[in-house]
Amino acid sequence: KIMHRIKGISNLEEALTNLLKVDKILIVPGNSDDNNLTLKDMGKVASMTLRKLIKEGSIIGVTGGTTMAHVAEEMPLGKVANDVLVIPARGGLGKEVETQSNSIAAKLAKKLDANYKLLHVPDNVDKVTLNAILNVPDVKEIIELIRDMDILIFGIGRADVMAKRRQLSKEKIDDIINKGAVAEAFGHYFNIEGKEVWESLTVGISLDTFQKIDNVIGVAGGEEKAEAIMAIASLRKNMTIITDEGAAKKIIKIA
Ligand code: G3H
Repeated sequence: KIMHRIKGISNLEEALTNLLKVDKILIVPGNSDDNNLTLKDMGKVASMTLRKLIKEGSIIGVTGGTTMAHVAEEMPLGKVANDVLVIPARGGLGKEVETQSNSIAAKLAKKLDANYKLLHVPDNVDKVTLNAILNVPDVKEIIELIRDMDILIFGIGRADVMAKRRQLSKEKIDDIINKGAVAEAFGHYFNIEGKEVWESLTVGISLDTFQKIDNVIGVAGGEEKAEAIMAIASLRKNMTIITDEGAAKKIIKIA
């Protein structure tokens, strides 16, 4: 029975890799929409995938969210290489401390016996404030480090869910949804074809930088995120996606 199950998952991985046209897809059994253990399993697989990529001098960028919090939680304790730095890939504080990218960066760094730097910039500031923040030396330093990242591990969200979570105005939410936004990742909102619809006003990774990073790992599961995952998968071929059976089956169904 177990072997049968494993075969099923590897067939699903192959089918999804061909469909989404990204280099690597790893799928854990279950649907994280209704089972927290599935989220934990994705965290385990993602943390192991990340460990394998870390080299001496690596700069690892991380984002926030529940999924990424599980990645940090499941990361086994132990140093992989010297001079490793973990940074948040983007500002944005949100309400819950545990799921902020700063907390996740710090936790991952501690697990890896690595260094970390924090980025204290809220989400949704106005342009004038943002330009002022961009001149703060600590912020400038992180922005340069973000451009030098060699690994990015990020969560993928639904545009509607993330826009509400980030407390955008009703007008703004309607506007981005009307423009076809289905996905959010690292503060950027995308339509199903992966075309950027809007970027939240904060500091952090640009789309241009995203395209240039050596290793990018997207982590997201649950049937509800099917379209969001499809949109993000279309951003670049050289990407690893870690997802679950629920999302994978739904994507195959709607594609
Ligand atoms: O940017 C998208 C979020 O990281 C997704 O958050 O893992 O809490 O669903 P979540």
